[in-house]
Amino acid sequence: MTSQIDRVQLEFTRQAPGFADPGLTLGREELLRWVVESLPLEATTVALDVAAGTGHLSRAAAPHVGSVVAVDVTSAMLQALRAEVERAGLDNLRPMRADAGRLPFADGQFDLVLCRLGLHHFAEPAAKIAEMARVVGASGTLAIVDLLSPDDADLAVRYNTFERMRDPSHNRAVTADELRGLMDAAGRPVTDWSARVVEVALDPWFDLTRTPDATRQTIIRALERELEGGPPTGMRPRERAGRLSFLQTWALAQSGPRG
Ligand SMILES: C[S@@+](CC[C@H](N)C(=O)[O-])C[C@H]1O[C@@H](n2cnc3c(N)ncnc32)[C@H](O)[C@@H]1O
Repeated sequence: MTSQIDRVQLEFTRQAPGFADPGLTLGREELLRWVVESLPLEATTVALDVAAGTGHLSRAAAPHVGSVVAVDVTSAMLQALRAEVERAGLDNLRPMRADAGRLPFADGQFDLVLCRLGLHHFAEPAAKIAEMARVVGASGTLAIVDLLSPDDADLAVRYNTFERMRDPSHNRAVTADELRGLMDAAGRPVTDWSARVVEVALDPWFDLTRTPDATRQTIIRALERELEGGPPTGMRPRERAGRLSFLQTWALAQSGPRG
């Protein structure tokens, strides 16, 4: 039986070479700045980036902190990360292979634990957040950045179905309330919350995942039907100058020092 980790490794081995595409939201400067400028970064901060991928966020944070350990479960992503680290000469950023569910670190080892766009790929988001909460110190910060599902349950099912059609390793984006609940349950209640509506251009989004043509067409037809007044997809499609895009909502949920 295929596990969620197998699906993640299969998809991200395929996606790794495309992660630097400037047409993607992943490297969008403004979105990285939003997160980096919101975080409590100091020259002595010891940070961990979980599901770091090719290190978009780790690399943006590294110049502002003492050190960053960037963990990911997909070797191809770590390989691309190592090349980026070398190119940028970031000697305080250390890539390491690890599963978010079994972080090879001591309790409270980090001042800051980050996870951007990993949560919706996790089979058991509660267990992963609890594991991240374990390795952040009481005086530290846990910061989760992820896609949000629409609050409406039916729309959320449709939204996640389309995301999963395009990337089978997409498990499920949580709602805003669920994210707050998960952090509460891990003993790290949200102390700071912000969100951004992010416009996603359809072509680079499909190209990254090498989505087969038939699947692209199914998704495109559903978005076009919605634009013509048909059933909502939960994707909030847009069309400008003949180009289709859609809207995601990204939340940045932080839990600062405990009591
Ligand atoms: C959408 S990418 C995000 C990468 C990066 N955080 C960023 O914001 O650009 C998701 C990453 O999560 C990783 N991932 C998924 N499940 C994981 C797990 N259980 N443990 C560690 N990494 C995981 C994938 O390998 C992939 O690199």
